[in-house]
Amino acid sequence: MRKMSALLLVNIGQLLTLRSAADGPRRGASLSELGIIQDAAVLCLGGKIVSVSATKDALRDPWLKKNRKNIIEIDCGGRVVLPGFVDSHTHPVFMQPRLVDFEKRISGANYEEIAEAGGGIRSSIDGVRKAGKTALTRKVSAVLADMARHGTTTVEAKSGYGLSVESELKSLEVIRAAAREWPGTVVPTFLGAHAVPPEYRGRSQEYVDLVCNEMMPAVARRKLAQFVDVFCDHGAFSAEEAAQIFIAAEEHGLAVRAHLGQLSETRLGPLLRYRPASLDHMDYVNDADLPALAQSDTVATLVPGANYFLGLSRYPNARRFIESGVAVALATDYNPGSSPTLSMPMAMSLACTHMKMSPAEAIAAATINGAWALRLASRKGSVEPSKDADLAVFDVGDYGEIPYWFGANRCLLSIMNGVPSGISPREKNVRKKRRGKNRLQQF
Ligand code: NIG
Ligand code: FE
Repeated sequence: MRKMSALLLVNIGQLLTLRSAADGPRRGASLSELGIIQDAAVLCLGGKIVSVSATKDALRDPWLKKNRKNIIEIDCGGRVVLPGFVDSHTHPVFMQPRLVDFEKRISGANYEEIAEAGGGIRSSIDGVRKAGKTALTRKVSAVLADMARHGTTTVEAKSGYGLSVESELKSLEVIRAAAREWPGTVVPTFLGAHAVPPEYRGRSQEYVDLVCNEMMPAVARRKLAQFVDVFCDHGAFSAEEAAQIFIAAEEHGLAVRAHLGQLSETRLGPLLRYRPASLDHMDYVNDADLPALAQSDTVATLVPGANYFLGLSRYPNARRFIESGVAVALATDYNPGSSPTLSMPMAMSLACTHMKMSPAEAIAAATINGAWALRLASRKGSVEPSKDADLAVFDVGDYGEIPYWFGANRCLLSIMNGVPSGISPREKNVRKKRRGKNRLQQF
């Protein structure tokens, strides 16, 4: 049983609440509204946030005064606290890094050439098919723990390197097993349509039928996923195949999302009909489709870690999306081929330097809009009473430093559903050492 005691964070220099009066993802100018409270305190009980206030008001509260000795108190020493990051796009179920592809790319080959030569997604299949559940679960659990150390408290996790009925189900079972051990929140996504596996080479339609008629019913029956994803692009699946997959998902009561526009342009209209929760990558998008995207509930999830790691000079046009009223989220796209980073601050830093998003926009895109992209905004993505107690404490004095100090982890502590975790040696500095009983014993 997870212990969910009362937790009080005090002396928060900047509390980024990301609170919002509007019901919907942040768009346009509202993407940079962080709802900052200075010298703030947050009280969490039973895994939920119960109050957000100035530290001096919190400490005057009669209930708090009476119960203070039973509350774990964290003195944040003037640092920044924000909602835990919502990483709404990751592929954590794989065994090996892809070092051969890495070197080939350094020597000049591109993503599609590597994939055609047998590298890419297909080269991770063998490892997953051969691996036992325990070994795979250990990999996923290690990544989730590391994500928490970087401030991430909610993670969407895709299958997609099994690509057979058995190995896709195994991948989703592994996600479920790892999620049970982690105090944070995991949203599983079925990505059977990630690539056509070698045994179906040249028979893409037959593989799509397998995904729709065998894999998906089993996934739905066993409640192994909340979303269905498809890699819709040149060299992967066509827009017609993606639509077929979306229709099957709808029949099975599963919501949909897609990888789109990473390598080539696909028109959005036909896919928006299925109300995808998000369309991800979006490097190549026809400007004429932006009004329809902005009118929809679909979030454009940008994953600049992939552009960085593939050595591309071109990045998604975040400014145009934001100015058109499109809801933009940021995610790591953690995977062994195109984006082996689990750091949301790194993704945010790239968003600032390469996509010209402001630090405030990057933070909102990595928290509240990520929550909208997972349809979890009623529980996640902001620090407001009744929301889940998901918080990250950063060892910085100003939120702008989170994307600024790239490549180093400044997260001191994550709190997931009220459970403090991700403790680093620096964390000792934020503990409030008080005499008396059972304070901080959980650490
Ligand atoms: O999001 N584009 C498709 N899927 C991943 C890459 C997966 C891989 O190369 O293993 C992505 O970039
Ligand atoms: Fe991806």
